[in-house]
Amino acid sequence: MLKIGHRGARGYEPENTLKAFQKALDLNADGIELDVHLSSDGHIIVMHDETIDRTTNGKGLVNNLSLSELKSFLIADQLEIPTLIEVFDLIDKKCLINVELKGVGTASKVVALIEEYISDKNWNYEHFIISSFEWNMLEEVHNLNSNIAIGVLTEEDIDKALAFGESIKAKAINPDYQLLNPENTKEIQEKGFQILPWTVDSPEDIQRIKNYNVDGIISDFPDRL
Ligand code: G3P
Ligand code: CA
Repeated sequence: MLKIGHRGARGYEPENTLKAFQKALDLNADGIELDVHLSSDGHIIVMHDETIDRTTNGKGLVNNLSLSELKSFLIADQLEIPTLIEVFDLIDKKCLINVELKGVGTASKVVALIEEYISDKNWNYEHFIISSFEWNMLEEVHNLNSNIAIGVLTEEDIDKALAFGESIKAKAINPDYQLLNPENTKEIQEKGFQILPWTVDSPEDIQRIKNYNVDGIISDFPDRL
């Protein structure tokens, strides 16, 4: 079962920072999950919200700020907002990277970056999975490069996610763990999908979801898995 650190290891370090991703590696996570938006000058920025207001000392939409403007603001502990390139270089093939597409325009940019790392830097498709709640962006990924693994995120309806996953040959269904029970977990796996629920943090919930024999869990505390 894959142990995947949510936004790095959000339970221990500020989310979506290089420090949080390094912490996940230190905790022997099998993978990290992160969220991306585009800066005004087209760089892929690792940030959960569409604005920088909650997590930094700045304000504004990621889309309206250039990379140098974004770099001038700090997250707690004097940490910078990372780009996706900086995270890829930190991880350096040591674990799976689950890129969650949040911002408009991220699909084609992330696909291009993954292709660059595979063709020029000796990475392979096993190092990546792209997920999103915005299923149109997953369709775009599939149309651009059907070799890239896709995880269909859902917080509402597993049946709809399964039907959509079949249509784009997704690798995984990534549901809110509260949607899961032993029956639908088995059904998802019998249809040939992996199942990667999120965000499972309490020891009780972790044990219950592990008992369903899921393929991986996304947690703020990857060491608890
Ligand atoms: O990828 C699973 C999870 O990260 C989705 O929710 O809001 O934490 O991005 P959120
Ligand atoms: Ca996420």
